[in-house]
Amino acid sequence: MQLLCERKQLVIPISKVELGPEEEAQVLEVLRSGHLAQGPKVAEFESRCAQLAGTQQAVAVNNGTTALVLAIEGLGLGPDDEVITSPFTFSATINAILESGATVRFGDIGDDYNLDPTTTLSLIGGATRAIMPVHLYGQTADMETFRKLAAEHGLPLIEDAAQAHGATTSSGARAGSFGLGCFSFYATKNVMCGEGGVITLDDHDLADRLRILRNQGMRSRYDYVVPGHNYRMTDLVAAIALPQFDQLEARVERRRHNAARLNAGLDGISGVVLPRTAPGRGHVWHQYTIRLSSAARLNREELAAVLSEADIGHGFYYPRAVYDYECYRSHPRVVIDGSPRAEEAAASVISLPVHPLLTDQDLDLIVETVDRALR
Ligand SMILES: Cc1ncc(COP(=O)(O)O)c(C=O)c1O
Repeated sequence: MQLLCERKQLVIPISKVELGPEEEAQVLEVLRSGHLAQGPKVAEFESRCAQLAGTQQAVAVNNGTTALVLAIEGLGLGPDDEVITSPFTFSATINAILESGATVRFGDIGDDYNLDPTTTLSLIGGATRAIMPVHLYGQTADMETFRKLAAEHGLPLIEDAAQAHGATTSSGARAGSFGLGCFSFYATKNVMCGEGGVITLDDHDLADRLRILRNQGMRSRYDYVVPGHNYRMTDLVAAIALPQFDQLEARVERRRHNAARLNAGLDGISGVVLPRTAPGRGHVWHQYTIRLSSAARLNREELAAVLSEADIGHGFYYPRAVYDYECYRSHPRVVIDGSPRAEEAAASVISLPVHPLLTDQDLDLIVETVDRALR
């Protein structure tokens, strides 16, 4: 405890949250109403999410992981069914597949760090029931190609859009509009409420099924039609997120400005591989992530130590391919075909602060610190 209290606050944290009078007013309204559970604020939250993803329906749940579980269950997947996903992601992606009873397989990633359609195609077989790209760091996967691939094979697309609120694809389509879009509203996400999630979709019947599964399998009170869950969101947390939908565009603009300034400053430093945005995609920069090649003077652990010394936040998202842990390697429903590009990326990525509360001076200090360490 004492250690925690003594821990120094970083001068430039990797993420920072700003909640103001609008969020306070929303929360106070819920508290004063006495209606804390799922109610009108959740309904408003769902309509804002549908608007953000450009879908007809949105089903709010209590976090991004349960959004993924519900999407998989809603499609009726279970034992003997395979879901193909990205090996370069947070554990929630794979945990959700395993929780639904299905088997997980991994393609490899492209230059955008996202699941690559070519390796995905090579894995599609008789047991494949869904493709689940992850829009890592706030950049969508190649969804136009995935849409074609999925249509050709009669497979649904489940998007892990946890990091991609408002991101767009090269055709201008929205993240979350390609099938079942699963978003997280965890405390550090671009729109957040502490813990929260949503599934965006166009299919009305499937949305009804998801609403039943979310609410203990009840169509109406005590009318149980399927074994379900309690994955409901509360009005109290929906209230925290509501004002942020109006603030999102400006905040994403600031993230884009920050990423551009970091790109300009870090360009040309030996061994630094800058993040790549595929042509036409609207990146929302949940994370700004560079890689260190073998030409770099330091490895990423050494660079991380320099950044810590300078009180600059950073993170390894993610330090290993998601399957590269004993609990998954030994799991009977985890099939590892080998994803060398993901393994290589995971061993060399380091994320730097890009959040909207950074000043240009903060960004220049980050650049100077990395530059000095690596020149
Ligand atoms: C890629 C990815 N998928 C899924 C999740 C799970 O979301 P949550 O933490 O809200 O359960 C997260 C967020 O933490 C994530 O980053």
